[in-house]
Amino acid sequence: MKQMDTKTLANYINGEWMEAEHTAPVINPATGEEIAKVPLSSEQHVEKAVQAAKKAQKEWALVPAPQRAEVLYRTGTLLREQKERLARLLTMENGKVLEEARGEVQEAIDMAFYMAGEGRRLFGQTTPSELKDKFAMSVRVPVGVIGIITPWNFPIAIASWKSFPAIVAGNAVVWKPATETPMMAYELTKILEEAGLPKGVMNLVFGSGSTVGDAMVHHPNIQVISFTGSNEIGRNIAAECGRQLKKVSLEMGGKNAVIVMDDADLELAADGIIWSAYGTSGQRCTACSRVIVHEKVKAELEARLLAKIKHLTVGNGLNEEVKVGPIINKQGIEKIKRYIEIGVEEGARLLTGGYELIEGDLKKGNYFAPTIFTDVKGTMRIAQEEIFGPVVSLIPVKSFQEAIEVNNCVEFGLSSSIFTQDVNKVFRAQRDLDTGIVYVNAGTTGAEIHLPFGGTKGTGNGHRDSGIQALDVFTEWRAVYVDYSGKLQRAQIDVE
Ligand code: UN1
Repeated sequence: MKQMDTKTLANYINGEWMEAEHTAPVINPATGEEIAKVPLSSEQHVEKAVQAAKKAQKEWALVPAPQRAEVLYRTGTLLREQKERLARLLTMENGKVLEEARGEVQEAIDMAFYMAGEGRRLFGQTTPSELKDKFAMSVRVPVGVIGIITPWNFPIAIASWKSFPAIVAGNAVVWKPATETPMMAYELTKILEEAGLPKGVMNLVFGSGSTVGDAMVHHPNIQVISFTGSNEIGRNIAAECGRQLKKVSLEMGGKNAVIVMDDADLELAADGIIWSAYGTSGQRCTACSRVIVHEKVKAELEARLLAKIKHLTVGNGLNEEVKVGPIINKQGIEKIKRYIEIGVEEGARLLTGGYELIEGDLKKGNYFAPTIFTDVKGTMRIAQEEIFGPVVSLIPVKSFQEAIEVNNCVEFGLSSSIFTQDVNKVFRAQRDLDTGIVYVNAGTTGAEIHLPFGGTKGTGNGHRDSGIQALDVFTEWRAVYVDYSGKLQRAQIDVE
């Protein structure tokens, strides 16, 4: 692609679009072509953005919440009108196939309307006082300036999970999106502007985690950091935020398993596994990367998976025939290749795949064959560590109890799934699977925006994205007591 065709993106600070001095190319992972240039901003850009946010937030917090919500309704409507165009851009920068890109834009539309509804709720509680002629209630109040740091794998959905509840609750935002997928950030910010969001309430600063992200985490005027990304970076952010007593919400890795019991509908289970393992080329936090299968049905499940993999066309996601798109970049491919070597060295058996695809046009992009390892042990590294690619490990087990133990013996706890026809096993599983999300007779992906999204153990730090629970991250609770007795009444003392 010629230089003149590429779009140079700009930061959005205090309602103004500002280009930065330094940029980096944005590469379409399906073709290797440059599709845009993304600013590499400095600490000074972060400083300006924070100052703008701080100023704007004071006014924004005084706008009645139902009116704040109107901006999100308009945002939802604009996103819906532009869904197809946005989905195509998303496929071009991220690689996920068009059908999934449409689904992701839909997730942001859903979140806009859902959080707009919160403008007329934002419920607190009224509760009796222990004293006569005294009133007690708790109300949600905005925290202030929110720093959000979003990943490339769901560039518009995750941004909507974080920014919409922050905005409706009366906060201002400084947003650093992943440099791999800046176009969704640019488009969403333009839409918020068009929807009438006052200047300074949303500030977009592109750039690296080590410069922009770091400056945000250290900035004393950012009160909350909401981060989705790797475990290693999340831990560092939490450590720094801990030192500053800054509120932090982390959403990190997964090593999600589908359990297939011997009474499962195997055709349905195979469909669920294929979708959860190879959708988004396995680059979802929720992707199925382990299949814990009862030994009695292992051979049949393997046969069904192999038959289905044959029909998975890998290629450019803009082509509607394609079912599996590219890997985000060459580093992603190298990481997957390393894990294939590790799996082989550990003694796992490669049932299919295990290699990069470089035939014909595929060599221009970053493609990896849908892969299955079998006869894997739950303790092997390929069954413990997040690979973030189209690689699944089949782990045979002898019983339901063993399946639950294998599921739980990883560092992460995002999602899990069980295929069985036995209602008793269903209820035991939803009680005993140690993950934030549990699916029954469905794969490990497919969270809906009005439920809490997040995980236990190394996946997070106890907070949830999306759902009503997202508001807990972006609000403080204020307890309000109104004494209308006209005299001094002492709590706990004047109660008799
Ligand atoms: C992620 O992978 O970080 O449940 C988000 C799902 C999607 C969201 C995934 N709705 O797979």
